[in-house]
Amino acid sequence: MAVLDEHATERSLDRRALALLQANTRRRELDGRRGRFTVPSARQYPFQWFWDSCFHAIVWSRFDWRRAAEELDAIFAWQRPSGFIPHVVFWDQRRISAWKWWHYMESLGHPWRKPHTTEQIQPPVLALAVVRIAEAGGGEPYVRRVLPMLAAFHEHLARERDHDGDGLISVISQFETGLDFSPVWQGGRRRRWGPSVFVRLRRPQVPVRLSGYDLERVFRGDRHQESVLVNSIYGRALRALARLARSVGDERLAATADGRADRVTEALVAKCWDRRSGLFQDLVGSGEERTRVKTISALMPLVLPDLPPEHVERLVDNLTDPRRFRSRYPVPSVALDEPTFARDSRLWGIRLIWRGPLSLNTNWLLAHGLAEHGHEDLARELGDRSRELVLRHGFNEFYDPLDGSPVGEPHFGWATLATDLP
Ligand code: GLC
Repeated sequence: MAVLDEHATERSLDRRALALLQANTRRRELDGRRGRFTVPSARQYPFQWFWDSCFHAIVWSRFDWRRAAEELDAIFAWQRPSGFIPHVVFWDQRRISAWKWWHYMESLGHPWRKPHTTEQIQPPVLALAVVRIAEAGGGEPYVRRVLPMLAAFHEHLARERDHDGDGLISVISQFETGLDFSPVWQGGRRRRWGPSVFVRLRRPQVPVRLSGYDLERVFRGDRHQESVLVNSIYGRALRALARLARSVGDERLAATADGRADRVTEALVAKCWDRRSGLFQDLVGSGEERTRVKTISALMPLVLPDLPPEHVERLVDNLTDPRRFRSRYPVPSVALDEPTFARDSRLWGIRLIWRGPLSLNTNWLLAHGLAEHGHEDLARELGDRSRELVLRHGFNEFYDPLDGSPVGEPHFGWATLATDLP
């Protein structure tokens, strides 16, 4: 009976996920390019976001691999000759607004010339989605079609973002990590007042924008960071790229990708590991000062298949520590014992996100990482808790880690990853 119930629940979750992805689907044309893609949420996020679309493609591939491939095609359509892929495509130009600071701050647009894309990156999840589409039916022909674009994307990251040559890539704004207002860079021993959080995180974007997103100039300053979350995903994606390359006989590309992936893991362990807390720490600026705030970023190396077992075990200790990351509904985006932890925070109607509530994209990454490292029980528990949240409250942007109540936008795209958890 229990098994029957479980199957019925899974089927109903699948149905609901598919209905949401369909409802959030948009077909648009801009600048001579056409795209069919899924918006994260109709009201608050009406454009195409890079890592959201990769997660959407992963879920789409469970139902319809061709639609999943289309989702990524709408991303590839905006790849520049350098290999760069922007983090947002403003397909719907009517939704651009001078009131939304970031539309102009994160792009080179002006109110008299609206931007088509941003100039920023987001965590490079792309190769993970390509693997899933290939496995779901795209096969070798699909891999052959997208591999040159995927390789160029990774080449760009290695060439343009690893300015100090240590194997880790750098972000030039916190908003590139996908963890917008996370206290990760805040140093914070104490709870900070909302406006100061906003200003602290938005202000560094001004000189970057004024430089015209000139990376050389930005890297000469001290505003950049080597994010553990971004690099863990980067390392994981490089392994996926290597696998894809090998599947079509491109040994050279496979060896380059594997070599880079090795360096990512080595550098994370050598430079970011904090033995005392058993967590990984982001590096700030050219001096590589470590951030000490315990956030979801600190756990992300669990996605690396070659993370040494002693590091895996220490991360698991943190994940299962009720004072830190073991909340009733795991995994909080900020550890419970951090003074900056908040169940929800808002400022002038703006939500300061990633300061406590949990998100299903990070749960998805961690759950699969745990399963691969042999922690199937913990992975399954994370999966069960996540499914429970969706069954009770629907597909939401975030959830309160203490009582599970929904936080942020409803009908949120990547929450459909709940259908793809262990
Ligand atoms: C917020 C999130 C970012 C996400 C975007 C669209 O900016 O921090 O990770 O990609 O919303 O959902």
